[in-house]
Amino acid sequence: MRKTILITGGAGFIGSHLVRRLVKQYSQYHIVNLDVLNYAGNLQNLVEVESFDNYTFVKGDITDLPFIRSLFEKYNFDHVIHLAAESHVDRSIKDPLIFIKTNVLGTATLLQVAKESWDNDYDGKLFYHVSTDEVYGSLALDQGIFTESTPYDPKSPYSASKASSDHLVRAWAHTYGMPIVISNCSNNYGPFQFPEKLIPLFINNIIHRRNLPVYGQGLNVRDWLYVEDHASAIDLILHKGIQGETYNIGGHNEWSNIKLIELMCDMTDEKLERPVGSSRNLICFVEDRAGHDLRYAIDASKIEKDLGWKPSLQFEEGLSKTIDWYLMNTDWLDQVTSGEYLEYYDKMYT
Ligand code: NAD
Ligand code: DAU
Repeated sequence: MRKTILITGGAGFIGSHLVRRLVKQYSQYHIVNLDVLNYAGNLQNLVEVESFDNYTFVKGDITDLPFIRSLFEKYNFDHVIHLAAESHVDRSIKDPLIFIKTNVLGTATLLQVAKESWDNDYDGKLFYHVSTDEVYGSLALDQGIFTESTPYDPKSPYSASKASSDHLVRAWAHTYGMPIVISNCSNNYGPFQFPEKLIPLFINNIIHRRNLPVYGQGLNVRDWLYVEDHASAIDLILHKGIQGETYNIGGHNEWSNIKLIELMCDMTDEKLERPVGSSRNLICFVEDRAGHDLRYAIDASKIEKDLGWKPSLQFEEGLSKTIDWYLMNTDWLDQVTSGEYLEYYDKMYT
């Protein structure tokens, strides 16, 4: 019998890459994509698979207990891959409570309904929770890297809400025997990322010759991974990961923000045939993010060694592909920044 997999947050950035991958590669699975379509959720990200007969989209909220119960009753899911979340640190600083509601209560709701639905018969079942390296806190520039046993020390409302959700998933495993797996990934970049996050925001600003607001002095360090490499890691963990385990995912690819921004400016100038160096003039240093984590860096050796995963792209190749995608898809950028698509989908689905 074919497996039914619930993917939450599948209309967002990483979720849409994962949905496209699983729908296309596994015709034996029925993929049900549950997404509330907030500002970052966009069905245009999924046009490529919308007519596949092993794919179903459902609009709904992971915090809505009766609705989630009815969904599990209808589809009898074998696996849950949980990505739905409020995901942007700056928004969490301005408006933390929605992060607690979605990321904490939403995760607990899914866990509780999965437990009720599976009713202690966990054979063939899996709750896969997609999380972030930010749960480990912040590293000094010379402090080593996050491993799976680094103690949790989240520092922003976003990372604290994700850490809470990780703890809840482990609590359901420990207390009720739920089969779970968790992965904690570093910063993703690539096509379909909402242009509030550093890379797509700055590409969009360069296109429109707008200022590039660098927080603080631009010395914070992030460890970047191409989004399709994250999707391939999730696919591998889903199929080969050991239940109860945690896997860190990352590309061993640390960049200070300012060096990355300069590289993006120069690559984009070249592609737009502008004098190389001209977009660097758009860089401006602005007030730092409150509580700004200095450095994230992931030790991905466990997934590499145990499951044989490795990233497929070198960073400069991935960044170049990403810039090309945004340059080719300015309609997408214009739509998601104008809010037109939200109005459209509100009419379609409410
Ligand atoms: P995103 O903001 O692009 O997408 C999140 C999706 O969740 C959206 O489609 C949104 O509509 C949906 N959603 C939000 N609230 C919901 C609710 N209440 N009910 C149902 N759906 C809801 O985020 P992303 O960058 O794709 O991140 C996906 C997951 O991966 C998150 O859990 C995030 O914490 C994690 N993660 C992200 C990164 C990264 O660099 N972006 C890195 C590591 C882990
Ligand atoms: O590490 C994984 C996390 O990476 C994910 O869990 C989050 O969902 C994702 O949003 C991302 O968090 P960051 O805060 O690291 O990403 P962001 O793109 O917002 O910022 C990257 C760096 O760039 C960070 O040091 C802040 C800085 N920045 C960001 C923006 C939006 C700027 O200097 N200026 C900006 O305008």
